[in-house]
Amino acid sequence: MKPLSVAVVGFGRVGKICADLLLESQDLILGAVVRRLDSLAQPLPEPFRAIPVVSHATQVQTVEAALLCVPLPQVLDAAHECVQHEIPIVESSVLHGEAFQAHREELHRLALRHKVPVIVGAGWDPGALSFVRSLFALLAPDGSNETSHRVGVNLHHTAMARQVAGVKEALCTEQRATDGRRQRYVYVELEQGIDAERVSEAIRADPLFLGDETLVFPVEDIAALEQEGRGVLLERRGTPGRLGHQQFLLEARFDEALLTAQMMLAAARSLPYLKPGAHSFLDLRLSALWGEQRKQAEREWL
Ligand SMILES: NC(=O)c1ccc[n+]([C@@H]2O[C@H](COP(=O)([O-])OP(=O)(O)OC[C@H]3O[C@@H](n4cnc5c(N)ncnc54)[C@H](OP(=O)(O)O)[C@@H]3O)[C@@H](O)[C@H]2O)c1
Repeated sequence: MKPLSVAVVGFGRVGKICADLLLESQDLILGAVVRRLDSLAQPLPEPFRAIPVVSHATQVQTVEAALLCVPLPQVLDAAHECVQHEIPIVESSVLHGEAFQAHREELHRLALRHKVPVIVGAGWDPGALSFVRSLFALLAPDGSNETSHRVGVNLHHTAMARQVAGVKEALCTEQRATDGRRQRYVYVELEQGIDAERVSEAIRADPLFLGDETLVFPVEDIAALEQEGRGVLLERRGTPGRLGHQQFLLEARFDEALLTAQMMLAAARSLPYLKPGAHSFLDLRLSALWGEQRKQAEREWL
């Protein structure tokens, strides 16, 4: 299939990373960077010097899709601008629940009127994390979710865990579960060749931690973890009952703008398969997100 030519609208944190990833992509092309009039005169960094910089995506006739990377209050105008010229879009506005539904409805009407597909909420959250939440809920339909954001911010050193043989450095954070239970998350950097499970058991068995539920996560570099601000811990517990007790845990630390950009590019790959209208990230076919690599992905992940 011919590579899809994509415009990046807004050259901020997410937009810059989208542009960077598009330069490296095999099946998507960076067709244009669309900027506010105020920013048009600023030169783009070196790798983007050959890319047309314009104030409207329509000024570059080869553009076939647009990634909207503008602040939320500007998204509808930017969407209108593209969709009315039949350019399909991907956006990632941080909206949830009713606000997300209202936004999607508005874009759906616009997309139907101009007969183009639009992808809404294709970022980290909403986006990839919505997908994981939904998968956990499918696996344990009667359970409940607990999500803690930015665990990195509350981390403190723990002398106790550092005394366990094989632990180079350790950080700890406490959370209150919704039922009031106290939970501890202990992050440990281990000496080479140390059995992580044995270290976890030793930490959990310490009198200091005995009263609380304690989860231990081995990490490569405690110093790097301390620097990171973004993280999420998503836990789903199935209701204990006749069918056993299921429990799922996602622990992640990341650059949110990078993950959002990656999901926006993946969503763009699925645009050619979509009917006119607005589609949420959950509406997209997982295989279509892989674009040209979908056969390989199927072999690897199924
Ligand atoms: N779903 C997720 O998980 C997730 C995570 C992060 C961000 N997002 C979404 O991604 C979008 C971009 O976020 P970002 O962090 O990249 O934002 P940002 O760093 O503030 O960049 C936004 C860019 O939009 C352009 N822009 C156009 N009109 C503007 C205006 N009136 N005021 C300020 N900037 C304007 C500017 O680029 P030019 O100067 O080039 O015009 C600006 O650099 C937002 O809608 C955000 O909600 C989603």
